[in-house]
Amino acid sequence: MNRLEGKSALITGAARGIGKTFAKAYLEQGATVAIADINIDKARETAAELGDRAYAVALDVTDQVAIDAAIAQVVATTGKLDILVNNAALFDLAPIVEITRESYDRLFAINVAGTLFTLQAAARQMIVQGHGGKIINMASQAGRRGEALVAVYCATKAAVISLTQSAGLNLIEHRINVNAIAPGVVDGEHWAGVDALFARYENRPLGEKKRLVGEAVPYGRMGTAQDLVGMALFLASSDSDYVVSQTYNVDGGNWMS
Ligand SMILES: NC(=O)c1ccc[n+]([C@@H]2O[C@H](COP(=O)([O-])OP(=O)(O)OC[C@H]3O[C@@H](n4cnc5c(N)ncnc54)[C@H](O)[C@@H]3O)[C@@H](O)[C@H]2O)c1
Repeated sequence: MNRLEGKSALITGAARGIGKTFAKAYLEQGATVAIADINIDKARETAAELGDRAYAVALDVTDQVAIDAAIAQVVATTGKLDILVNNAALFDLAPIVEITRESYDRLFAINVAGTLFTLQAAARQMIVQGHGGKIINMASQAGRRGEALVAVYCATKAAVISLTQSAGLNLIEHRINVNAIAPGVVDGEHWAGVDALFARYENRPLGEKKRLVGEAVPYGRMGTAQDLVGMALFLASSDSDYVVSQTYNVDGGNWMS
């Protein structure tokens, strides 16, 4: 049986990477999925690739007007919103003495404010509908502890874990489940940029950091977006109705809490 039959989902940052893989999985389980991304050309390409029940939505999660318009587009297209995945995020790194306000403001605007205000808009819609809903935030192992070069990104993901706790407690009376996934290191296009930043600041050859973080995972390799799909389906389905405010590590054993 399809676990998400007839459900309407919105996934931010779904033009590529983990969000795209979740979109594919939700579609396979019967949902209709809005591929929402700041890169609308890529979102259209992805939606076309994923098939009839996928459609592109232009969304910059730092823009409140765009958030409200995206929710309105989902409701106009499918009549409702059942599932939100707050997946869009930006990564950056620098030693403490080189962090810029520009980088700080941008990361917090996307990763934290973007998550909160997209969640808020989705929750308002779900409350009006009166049938509950599922909200999944993408946290990270980076939110579980600081890293010498990754202060700002780590802080944004710690904030996502905290917002998940508070929002989950506040919204469960409406039968809206808010939970999060904390991946470890997940291979994908995103990692080319991460590896290049580490190469610069840790004075390594390109590719070395990526190899080392993969070897350090207890499971024995980096994760793939597909490794996260089981949790993404669980948290979007009725199987997780009694799960509130949790952040699940799906990281091959990197972190325990
Ligand atoms: N890849 C990893 O190793 C890893 C590890 C832990 C957590 N995560 C988290 O998982 C999520 C997905 O990661 P990924 O590796 O697939 O990232 P990615 O960089 O491949 O994809 C992010 C997507 O978000 C979009 N985006 C960026 N800014 C946006 C904005 N302002 N509004 C709307 N869309 C925007 C981008 O265009 C892109 O399509 C993120 O929240 C990330 O922090 C990733």
